[in-house]
Amino acid sequence: MFSEQKKQIIEYGILLDRYELVSLTCGNLAIRMPTGEILITPTGLMYDQMVEDDVIVMDLDGNIIEGDRKPSSDTPSILYIFKHMPNINGVIHTHQPYATAISLIPGMDEFRVCFTGMANTCCGNVPITPYSSAGSVDMGVDVVNNVGTARAVILSHHGVMTIGPGLKDALYAAVYLEETAKGYLAARACCPDGNMKQMTDEQIDTMVEVFKYYGQGTPVIPTELVDKKK
Ligand code: 13P
Repeated sequence: MFSEQKKQIIEYGILLDRYELVSLTCGNLAIRMPTGEILITPTGLMYDQMVEDDVIVMDLDGNIIEGDRKPSSDTPSILYIFKHMPNINGVIHTHQPYATAISLIPGMDEFRVCFTGMANTCCGNVPITPYSSAGSVDMGVDVVNNVGTARAVILSHHGVMTIGPGLKDALYAAVYLEETAKGYLAARACCPDGNMKQMTDEQIDTMVEVFKYYGQGTPVIPTELVDKKK
């Protein structure tokens, strides 16, 4: 059942590892099928050793339809997100260290876009939510209550949840959030007063829009959207 999507989950789990967003077995990935079933990674298994049969199929209430493995410990929050966000069909949870480090900076309850790649993929500024326990439904509640139109939330002291219409959107958000967090922290180390150059709201909004034209199968970027200097 759902062989292609199970393969995608495993392949993307290996990518999370490659981009250093998870260590060993942590983090998890989930897909909602058009027919409503939820595919979710098993708890505590290495991504590069996972096989299709390890991926669990369940309904929205957590009743297992297929699979013998114990599902991710974050299943309650993942199901909560799917239940409350009908347009979201891909959820990824990581322990990516640079984005998570930003949650330690006093007074920050939002990570403002400062690189174009973050605007493109996270679709705006990323909220930073107060601490919640791994395995709790609270992580999911925090995502639903705070994410707005963005595709990522930083969970203080813990990690990141990314969401999207598909799993690929959630993967891109996680990877580019981390890239941006690395750059931000490097710049901040050179600006101890925290006073750094910023992108304007208009620049951020334009970059969110531009990504709709990115990649194969989309029209070229309209020049009037991006050309400002000629
Ligand atoms: P799993 O239970 O999915 O392996 O994840 C652990 C984790 O990332 C806790 O937040």
